[in-house]
Amino acid sequence: MSNIVVFGSQWGDEGKGKIVDMLAQQSAAIVRFQGGNNAGHTLVVGGEKCVLHLIPSGILHPGKICLIGNGVVLDPAVFLSEIETLAKKGVDVSPKRLMISKKTHVIMPYHCALDVARESSRSGGTKIGTTGRGIGPCYEDKVHRCGIRAADLADPELLRKKIVHALEEKNVLFKALYGAEPLDPEKIFQDMLPLAERIKPYLGDVSSAIQEVVAGGGSLLFEGAQGTHLDVDHGTYPFVTSSTTVSGNAASGSGCSPRLLDRIIAIVKAYTTRVGGGPFPTELFDATGDYLQNHGGEFGATTGRKRRCGWLDTVVLRESARLNGPTELAVTKLDVLSGLPEIKLCAAYDYKGARVLYPPQEENAMAHVTPVYETMPGWNEDLCGVTSWGDLPANARKYLERMEELSGVKVGLVSVGPDRTQTFPRG
Ligand code: IMP
Repeated sequence: MSNIVVFGSQWGDEGKGKIVDMLAQQSAAIVRFQGGNNAGHTLVVGGEKCVLHLIPSGILHPGKICLIGNGVVLDPAVFLSEIETLAKKGVDVSPKRLMISKKTHVIMPYHCALDVARESSRSGGTKIGTTGRGIGPCYEDKVHRCGIRAADLADPELLRKKIVHALEEKNVLFKALYGAEPLDPEKIFQDMLPLAERIKPYLGDVSSAIQEVVAGGGSLLFEGAQGTHLDVDHGTYPFVTSSTTVSGNAASGSGCSPRLLDRIIAIVKAYTTRVGGGPFPTELFDATGDYLQNHGGEFGATTGRKRRCGWLDTVVLRESARLNGPTELAVTKLDVLSGLPEIKLCAAYDYKGARVLYPPQEENAMAHVTPVYETMPGWNEDLCGVTSWGDLPANARKYLERMEELSGVKVGLVSVGPDRTQTFPRG
């Protein structure tokens, strides 16, 4: 059995949850390695919708182990509320099958407050459009070396000390810079105590758990969140999230060797979407953009915001290929393109008088490129019932083949709808 990494190749919302859900059936353990509850995976199982933000989507598969790695940032209240929701649906959420690494950093209320205060103080084009979930400030504390880690929740005195320490600096910011009321460390500590008690049974050593799965002959599925172009280093900085979203982080964000990563699947939506601020070269502001938005139901699973929509950008995809080394593409939402008379895909950019095949790396340069498009004929057939490569309309197959040529990566899976039954191999 091989261990698989699933990652987003665009700006998130590629439909990773659905592919993870499918692959979870053949895996012993599902591991999250970065991000937090800024993610949102909408799964449809037996016609019923289920949105998860933090807990790996593998939890819906009885008997699978779900691990939250050290690279994740965890909001205890969100974790506990997801557990409650799942338990009500009859899902087993016992610590026997769900573990949080003791090294995972904890999102505290002051992280959320800081995220929102900062975002509201930004104006116009400088707004990042964060999800307001405290993700950036939590990762900042991690690298600033004053973060609270999940293991600290089991040590009340250490927890109190760390909260007091963190707020010494943050309260100055709240008062002096953002004109907000300072936060009371003792109240935050007291509010956190009952949550900490409930989190405690879930704390564990994720590295060892991974080793045990491997030793027992089971395979691992590493579930990426967000997308490559939201990566804090490689994305459209500064319009990015605060974690490392590329496949290599599956190892360091969960505490295992990169030699364990066998198969790396790039999830690519058949067109492009983005939520929040930042450059988006192939964005459409016309009726076709509205068509993709409506037809694709493009609203954020976490914030409910309308997603910006545009044509597939193979410059973005090519960059994802070189950064992540995918063994295959899993193309999602191909059905959404049905009914368009012609479909464009961006093959290159014009930038400062030159034709480029990769995104330029200067800050915000992506805002100044001109996409070079190829136009392909569309198809009218409804794809929802298609179950094999051979049954796809010829023009849909040609579109996918061109995607393979331009990205240099073969398609492995195609998805034509939200249900578990609507994904099939390339054939
Ligand atoms: P943050 O991760 O909340 O700090 O938000 C930073 C940027 O990443 C914003 O533009 C968000 O809209 C975007 N973002 C964060 N998580 C996701 C996601 O799961 N899907 C799509 N965009 C996301």
